[in-house]
Formats: sequence, structure tokens, C-alpha cells
Amino acid sequence: MKCDTSFELFLWALSILCLSRSSNGYSPPDNYLIDCGSSTNTTVSGRVFLADKEASKFLSTPQNVLASASNSLNSSDVSQLYQTARVFTGSTRYTFPISQGGRHWIRLYFSPFDYESYKMSTAKFAVSAQDFVLLSNFTASGSVMKEFSLNVTSSNLVVTITPSNNSFAFLNAIEVVSMPDTLIQDDANTLPSGKFQGLLSQALETVWRLNMGGQQVSAMNDTLWRNWDPDYDFLVQPNLAINVSKVGAVKYVPGGPTQDTAPASVYGTATEMNSGSDPNSNFNVTWEFDVDVGFRHLIRFHFCDIVSPSLNQLYFNVYLDSSVVISDLDLSSILENVLAAPYFFDLVSGVSVSNKLRVSVGPYTANGAYPNAILNGLEIMKMNNSDGSLNGVAAGISSGPGSGKKNVGVVVGITIGALIAALLAGVLFWWCRRRQQRLAKQGLSKTWMPLSTNGGNSHTMGSKYSNGTTLSAASNLGYRFPFVAVQEATNNFDESWVIGIGGFGKVYRGELNDGTRLAVKRGNPRSQQGLAEFQTEIEMLSQFRHRHLVSLIGYCDEKSEMILIYEYMENGTLKSHLYGSDHPSLSWKQRLEVCIGSARGLHYLHTGYAKAVIHRDVKSANILLDENLMAKVADFGLSKTGPEIDQTHVSTAVKGSFGYLDPEYFRRQQLTEKSDVYSFGVVLLEVLCARPVIDPSLPREKVNLAEWAMKWQKKGQLDQIIDPTLVGKIRPDSLRKFGETAEKCLADFGVDRPSMGDVLWNLEYALQLQEAVVQGDPEENSTNVIGELSPQVHNFSNVDPTISTAQFEVSSVDDLSMSKVFSQLVNSEGR
Ligand SMILES: *[C@@H]1O[C@H](CO)[C@@H](O)[C@H](O)[C@H]1NC(C)=O
Ligand SMILES: *[C@@H]1O[C@H](CO)[C@@H](O)[C@H](O)[C@H]1NC(C)=O
Ligand SMILES: *[C@@H]1O[C@H](CO)[C@@H](O)[C@H](O)[C@H]1NC(C)=O
Ligand SMILES: *[C@@H]1O[C@H](CO)[C@@H](O)[C@H](O)[C@H]1NC(C)=O
Ligand SMILES: *[C@@H]1O[C@H](CO)[C@@H](O)[C@H](O)[C@H]1NC(C)=O
Ligand SMILES: *[C@@H]1O[C@H](CO)[C@@H](O)[C@H](O)[C@H]1NC(C)=O
Ligand SMILES: *[C@@H]1O[C@H](CO)[C@@H](O)[C@H](O)[C@H]1NC(C)=O
Ligand SMILES: *[C@@H]1O[C@H](CO)[C@@H](O)[C@H](O)[C@H]1NC(C)=O
Ligand SMILES: *[C@@H]1O[C@H](CO)[C@@H](O)[C@H](O)[C@H]1NC(C)=O
Repeated sequence: MKCDTSFELFLWALSILCLSRSSNGYSPPDNYLIDCGSSTNTTVSGRVFLADKEASKFLSTPQNVLASASNSLNSSDVSQLYQTARVFTGSTRYTFPISQGGRHWIRLYFSPFDYESYKMSTAKFAVSAQDFVLLSNFTASGSVMKEFSLNVTSSNLVVTITPSNNSFAFLNAIEVVSMPDTLIQDDANTLPSGKFQGLLSQALETVWRLNMGGQQVSAMNDTLWRNWDPDYDFLVQPNLAINVSKVGAVKYVPGGPTQDTAPASVYGTATEMNSGSDPNSNFNVTWEFDVDVGFRHLIRFHFCDIVSPSLNQLYFNVYLDSSVVISDLDLSSILENVLAAPYFFDLVSGVSVSNKLRVSVGPYTANGAYPNAILNGLEIMKMNNSDGSLNGVAAGISSGPGSGKKNVGVVVGITIGALIAALLAGVLFWWCRRRQQRLAKQGLSKTWMPLSTNGGNSHTMGSKYSNGTTLSAASNLGYRFPFVAVQEATNNFDESWVIGIGGFGKVYRGELNDGTRLAVKRGNPRSQQGLAEFQTEIEMLSQFRHRHLVSLIGYCDEKSEMILIYEYMENGTLKSHLYGSDHPSLSWKQRLEVCIGSARGLHYLHTGYAKAVIHRDVKSANILLDENLMAKVADFGLSKTGPEIDQTHVSTAVKGSFGYLDPEYFRRQQLTEKSDVYSFGVVLLEVLCARPVIDPSLPREKVNLAEWAMKWQKKGQLDQIIDPTLVGKIRPDSLRKFGETAEKCLADFGVDRPSMGDVLWNLEYALQLQEAVVQGDPEENSTNVIGELSPQVHNFSNVDPTISTAQFEVSSVDDLSMSKVFSQLVNSEGR
């Protein structure tokens, strides 16, 4: 079918975008790759590590020190990342917004060099993430990549880097990448024969990952960009083993391990017992690994019988140190009689008491089989201890309740030290704040300039504030706030007042003296991209006033801050009412009203002004709900007046959100209002099915919501996949109309998609059908073709200014001259 091939194309385009080489198409929902200290993007194994400045929006650090090595002779692939580094002189945080919770890899790259006074080989520091200590008291002696994984359960992952006393920290590169949920299961075997449960909440560090009997498999050859090292150096007696390689023989079977578990280049090679022609051979093949004492390890053994000519010929034992892990392993019987089908076995070891760990395989001979044994791959992952640490206790990072074993003297000492430090910090804070307030009061009359030239509301407000009385948000105009006022309104950016985190920065709840509630979005300073989005957002929201567009109350650009202040939306995002949170679910009527409201907002954007404005990031997370569940469209940072902009600029930066992107925009890089219509179609499906638009944990055909739902829509069975809480509550006609509307929005080509006005009309019609206001033959109603519109709707799409004004409450744009906003932004930069 035409639509199917288009979605294949869409997925293909997505995989190109992510430069994914994986044949089964796992594209990580979160994929942050940063080449710290680098002024350019760096491509390694087909993946782009962003230049440092592109990542500044994630970073909060006291001082910027970007270092590059003086001699850059080594041109090997990964080592490109090692040419530059960022030096951290104080505690630093990277905050990565997480689009989808679940296990993520954190890969840290270190390669010390000397830069100015920083001898990185002497740097000592700790790294932690989400209450887990990843590294403590760490010193890098040579190039090393540390790989960790943990289940991210909040909407952002904070990686904290803390230098030890009198030292500093450094980092050459960092990756935060989603991994398939199925890769680590919750339970594993233990010795002698129990079960370990709770792996999902474990942080893991990859200590060893080996490809037995084969070559190095580099990130480039692994669907999940893992490295697999050859095992040869770990063999205790290499002469007892031989290499076998038969990559072509590997048969992945449904329900078994996949390429993501380990690639065929791992399963297709093995280290085999060298029994030669001696049928009485009886010895083990043994590997020995260095491990840290005091930790449990998750050990994953990979097997694939590439050595036997036929089934039921290979029987062997597997050992860990002196314990039997598996006795009489017969791969043929496990894998439904498919030869050379991959299999893996997870074992959680006891707490290590020695710094050596031995793995052996040896023959099982009791049944008279020819002595042989193999191992194809092995992963050894360190598990966090009961202090939540993978690497000892880090100073300055609170340890959990399990840390009661510490010496009492030390604890008392630390407590007193902490008390004194807290007291000092308090005094210092009080002093700084006083000073700041004094300065602010002095500076206020000079720098404070209300936006409106006509005097009016905002001027009065400004003078009110400088008189030290109340500040109110009565004005509708974009309004420049003093920084101290924002600080006051947000309780000095209280972390516990954070209500959301986006690409741009954190969003705090705030409150003015008069009780007006605010949402305060604070951008990361010094981010160039952020500045552009900041300006766009002020520009767009100052021009557009509409019931269904979130309104800007003001902004603050003092001290190179980029702060946007919006009306507070009591009920959060539409997304949070659909899934992944405990908000009560919405009724079908409420959902339709939300869709209609947001369609109105978008329709106004597209038509309410002389030049169409394209939102470019329509998604359920950008539709906010007020206390009456009225929908308002938010987040205009990516908006453009179009469509001609992208035709003149040869812009290759396709922007928007994964899962919502218009495939045509991908193919042709041409932006029109119809791209918003496409994304809105995806939102409609999300509203109907109440599931994420991309969910890699589902079977392949279900991963992409748009693709999957359209299959059901084409079969006329959309009702099979709707949100279970809606089952039996939607009138069939209403559902049919809704499904048709979504389908039209998702048409391959923009020209075939309805305008936002048409969508609006159809949704209103779907609401009427639900409420059964419409009389007559339902069959006739449902065959109404989208696009055949009533006269009233044609008026909607008209750009008749009188209609727009009446319908959309356009405020006079004359009140506010945009050039003035920008001259003020520029001036403040020069200050
Ligand atoms: C790096 O890549 C990003 C995204 O692909 C792009 O936006 C940016 O302009 C590039 N930066 C440089 C310095 O090439
Ligand atoms: C280049 O770097 C790689 C990886 O760090 C290392 O194995 C190799 O020996 C280096 N080569 C030279 C010439 O320094
Ligand atoms: C940190 O490591 C040094 C050696 O590198 C050691 O002497 C010191 O005791 C360690 N400190 C802590 C807190 O583990
Ligand atoms: C760190 O500094 C504190 C006080 O500044 C000191 O008491 C402590 O011993 C130092 N720790 C190390 C590991 O040097
Ligand atoms: C992550 O943790 C949550 C809550 O503990 C759990 O429901 C979820 O299954 C976990 N996911 C993965 C991939 O480990
Ligand atoms: C890895 O991939 C490269 C090119 O994609 C190929 O030339 C090479 O043989 C592969 N290596 C292995 C071990 O599969
Ligand atoms: C097995 O392969 C390794 C390289 O991966 C090589 O060093 C070793 O000599 C091989 N062993 C045999 C017995 O051929
Ligand atoms: C293989 O190793 C295990 C565990 O160390 C040991 O019990 C067994 O006897 C060994 N087998 C042979 C044949 O040496
Ligand atoms: C690892 O940390 C988690 C969460 O803090 C904890 O539940 C678990 O018990 C820890 N693992 C071990 C082996 O102590």
C-alpha cells in the first residue's frame, strides 16, 4: 500500500537522521553525544558527537575551560574524541532531558593531557548520576572509556562531576543514549541455584565485554554501538583453546536473542576446547578477569553452537570460579532444535572477595558425547552496592541509609564540618543577597525601561515596582521583568519549584505579590541556539494573542539571563493526561475539546496574521491545559514564518520532535503549515490510543504509533486499539470522523492534507456526533469527505481581518514594536 511504503521511507529517513546502522532499526529516543571542549562536531563510527557549545544548554558549571591537546598525531577514529576536553574547576552538572524513561547508557571518555596549568593525569574527581556514584576518587591514567547503564525514572538525567579537594575534573566526551528495555531483564540466576530479582533498579558498569575467538567488534559493527574485545589475552592457557568463526551460520530465531543482544560477529565466533583428536580429553578452558572486591557482578554468557555439524552433539559445563553455573548444557534442546541459534544466560555472582574472577567451560562426558565446550561471548557488569555506588563512597554525595557501617568518629567529624560549612554558606548567601538587592535597587531606575512607548499599563507597573510596592501581571503586553523580581517570584529558583525541563532549560512555578501564578522558563545562559529560540519565542508570543495560545507575561534578559514568564497552566501538558503519570484520564468529550482548542490555536497561527506562522514542534507535550482543561499551544522557540524561509535558506537542520515529524519535510526539507498538520495528526492518534508516539519496547510493528494506528484505520478497525478507558464510550460515528481526520492529516503529501481550519471543522463535527446533535442518516454523515466544508468553515480559513479580529482576539500589534524588543536585547548583551 502506498501509505505503508511511505512509512517505510519515513523510518528509513529517521534512521538516516540518527545515522543508525542497525539493521533492525533500534533508534534511541534519547541520544546525546557530546565532544567536550571541541569547537567542531566530530563523527565517530558514523555518529555525530556535538561540538561543546551545542551542549552548553545541558551544562551548569562555575567556569568554562575548553582544552585541546597540542599534538594531535593520532588519527584513529575514537581518539578524535580525545583531542579535546573540558576542565571542571568546581562541581558541574549536565542535565539531559529524557524523552522516555528506561535504561540508558552513560559513556564517559577520558584521555588526560596537559593544558595550561591543568595536568589532567593528576585530576581527581567523582561522577554521579541519579543517586548512583559512578566514579569516586577517580584518576585517569591513559585513554579509557567507562560505560555505565541505569534505569532513568525521571524526566531528566543529571550527571554531576565533582572535583576532589584542591583538584579539578575533566571529560573528553560524554554519551547518554537510550537502550532497548528488553536488554536487561529484572531477574537472573544466582549460585548455587536461586534467583536474583531487582536488576531493573540496578546501576551497572560494564567491566568486560568480550567476543570469544574473534576480532575486536567496534561500535561501528554493533547495532547498539558497543565495543567487544577479543578474549585471547584473558585465556589462562591459550594452548588449550582454538578459535572458530562461522558468522554466516548464526540463525536468530523469533523470541530468542536479537542482533541487539549481541551481533552476529559475536555469536558467529567462539573459543572452543582444543580437544584435537583425543576422545579422552578432559580439561577446562579458563579465562581470568580483574574485578573490584566487594561488588556483585551480572555475568552474561553468550552461546551459539557454530561448531557442531548437526543437533545434539555438544554437551558441556560452565563454571564461575569453582562453582558449577550450568551442568550438561545442551544448546539444541533449549532452542527448539535450531542449530546455531543464539542463547544467553544471566548470572548474578556473590559479592566478590578476590580481585580475580575466573570463567571456565569444560566437557560433560557422562553421556559418552565427544568432549567439547565453547563460549561465544561474555559480558561482566559490576552492580551497585548497597550504598548505591559502583566505585566506593564519594565525598559530598549523600549515601543511602545502608551506610551505617562507618566509623562514628568520622561521621561526627563530617557532621560538624558540614554544620560549619552550612553556617558559612548561609552568612555568605545573606551577604550576597543584600548586596545584590542594593545593587538592583540602584540599577533599577537606570536600566529599567518598559517596553511600551505609549506609556500605558506597563509603565505604571514598572514604576510601582521600583517604588518597592507590588508588581502585577495585569498587562497583556510582553513585559520586561527585573531579575530580582523573577528571583523573588520563584523563591530564588528553588529546585523544588521546578515543574518541568525542556531543551531550553528548566521551568519553575512562580508567584507574584498579587497572587498571580506564573510559569518561569529559565534558559541556559551562553547558548547561541537558545538565544535564537528565546528571541523567536518573545517575538511570536508578543505578536500573537489568542485564547488557545499560551500567553507570555514577560521576559528577563538581565545578566545574560534568558527568562520567559508565562501564564501558569494548572493542569500541565496534554501528554501527562494521556499516559505516564497518574493524572485522571480524560473523557472522550474532554479530549475532543482539547483537540479542538489546540486546533484553533494552530489555525490562528497559520492564518491569523499576514504571514503564516509554522509552529514546527506540535506535540502533546507542547499542548498545555489550564484549570478548566482548556488547551493552549505552547513553545514557539522553533516557529518560523513560512513557507518561503526554508526555500531560500538551504537549511539542512530538520527540527522538531521524534515521532511527530512530517516525512515530506524530511524528504524535501521544505517547511509548510502542512507539517504542523501532520504532527497534529500524530497528536490525534496519541489522544485516541493514549500511548507514546514511539515506544521501542513494543514489538516492531507497534513501535511507531502513526504507522501502527494507520494500519488499523485502513482495516476500519481503529476501535481495536483505542485507550482501554474509552472502550464503549465513543459513539462509532464520532470515532469514524476522528479516525478519518487523523488519517487525512497523515497523508504522505502535504497537498493532500487538510488545512488546520478543515481539521478544526471535522473535530467539531466529531464532537457533535458524539453529543448526537447531528440529525439524519449516520451513514451519510460518516461519508462526508474532509475538505467539503460548510460555508462557515470557509470563513475560518479566510484571512479576512474583521473575522480574525472577532474570532481570535488579535491585540493591536502597534502597542509593541518588535524592533524595540530586539534593540533592547542587543543593548543588554553589550552591557
Ligand atoms: C553540529 O551538528 C548540529 C546538529 O547536527 C548542528 O546543529 C550544528 O550546527 C553543528 N555544529 C557545528 C559547529 O558544525
Ligand atoms: C592511537 O590511539 C589508539 C587508541 O587510543 C591507540 O591504541 C594507538 O596506539 C594510538 N596510536 C598512536 C600512533 O599513538
Ligand atoms: C583516593 O585515592 C588515593 C590514592 O589514589 C588514596 O590514597 C585515598 O585514600 C583515596 N581516598 C578516598 C576517599 O577513597
Ligand atoms: C578535604 O578537605 C578537608 C577540609 O578542607 C579535609 O579535612 C579532608 O581531609 C580533605 N580530604 C582529602 C581526601 O584530602
Ligand atoms: C525502570 O524502573 C521502573 C520503576 O522502577 C520500572 O517500572 C521499569 O520497568 C524500569 N524499566 C527498565 C527498562 O528497567
Ligand atoms: C565492521 O564493519 C566494517 C565496515 O562496515 C567491515 O569492513 C568489517 O569487516 C566489519 N568487522 C567485523 C568484525 O564485522
Ligand atoms: C585466535 O585469534 C587470536 C586473535 O584474535 C590470535 O591471536 C590467536 O593466535 C588465535 N588462536 C589460534 C589458536 O589460532
Ligand atoms: C573445571 O573447573 C571446575 C571449577 O573449577 C572444576 O570443578 C572441574 O573439576 C574442572 N574440570 C576439569 C576437567 O578440570
Ligand atoms: C543498588 O541500588 C538500588 C537502588 O538504590 C538498591 O535497591 C539495590 O539494592 C542496590 N544493589 C545492591 C546489590 O545493593
